[in-house]
Amino acid sequence: MLLQTTTNTLIDLSQKTDGSQDRAAFAKDVAEGLSQRPKKLSSRYFYDANGSRLFQQIMSLPEYYLTRAEYSLLQQHRAAMVEAFAAGGFFHLVDLGAGDAMKTKLLLGELTKKGKDFDYVPLDISGAAMRELSRDLQQTYPEIYVQAVVAEYITGLQWLGQHLPKRKVVLFLGSNIGNFERQEGQKFIRQIRQHLQPGDLFLLGVDLTKDPATILAAYNDASGVTAAFNLNLLERINRELGGNFDLDAFSHFPLYDPQEGVMHSFLVSEREQEVYLEATQARYTFAAWEAIHTESSHKYTLQQATDMGRTAGFEFVTSYLDEKGGFADMLFKAV
Ligand code: TRP
Repeated sequence: MLLQTTTNTLIDLSQKTDGSQDRAAFAKDVAEGLSQRPKKLSSRYFYDANGSRLFQQIMSLPEYYLTRAEYSLLQQHRAAMVEAFAAGGFFHLVDLGAGDAMKTKLLLGELTKKGKDFDYVPLDISGAAMRELSRDLQQTYPEIYVQAVVAEYITGLQWLGQHLPKRKVVLFLGSNIGNFERQEGQKFIRQIRQHLQPGDLFLLGVDLTKDPATILAAYNDASGVTAAFNLNLLERINRELGGNFDLDAFSHFPLYDPQEGVMHSFLVSEREQEVYLEATQARYTFAAWEAIHTESSHKYTLQQATDMGRTAGFEFVTSYLDEKGGFADMLFKAV
């Protein structure tokens, strides 16, 4: 590859809001969720500064195998992946939900080392993360042209379809697909396909079904970090919406359903109680042992994941597994 200094670009497609609109939307979601039977809170609100820090800790827990498994499978298979990506010449490497690109950097290193012709398009809802990543890559890989996009997935996908003229390789790593309900996940993969052209590639990270005890432990670590992460949602409501949740009166409860292949996380009210939110000026009542559902993490068999890709209009190319066989990055080609 021609060695050159590139100027990275940042495309911001996020809806500009002053904080008040964000707070109003948060308040509305919380009010709706707490008024439903059964109660629920959306996992999209886990990741404030404190929640992001706790999730970093989760990723290094001995029980939380997911991140390490995908990292090691990328290390093991990166040479083969890079050959598969680059077989058709130049491509845009699109990274949905790139974050700090900790795992993608393994591929960027390999692509650069092998002199492959590509540019890198990380996409994330966090503007701060995309600015930081762009700066970081300018230092570590000055030869890679980076077009960072700040957007929600769907807005970002539309932009890609319209602005990236060449062949695309889209990454959706980290088993993020697992946090969609199955129908929604299928729909999302179909939307990805709709913004691609025949011949484009798609690499999907999936946490596979395995010993239920292993899965349960990953969401119920012995040191209590996952509990703190789940409870932080209530703390955030207290902080940002003027709530008065008594954190000592709620506990983290994880449940894995091995027939459905889904890990559920709950917050359980240990007694009958009432919570008041200044933001909505309303009270929400909890019966003793009433639970709030906070997140589902769906696990897939290789067959289910293959079928999901096929149903969305992809052909299955291959799957790359970690050595324990618990996590897969599945490669699909748009037909
Ligand atoms: N989305 C991650 C996952 O499903 C986040 C996560 C890890 C999580 N542990 C959790 C979400 C506990 C809720 C509760 O793996």
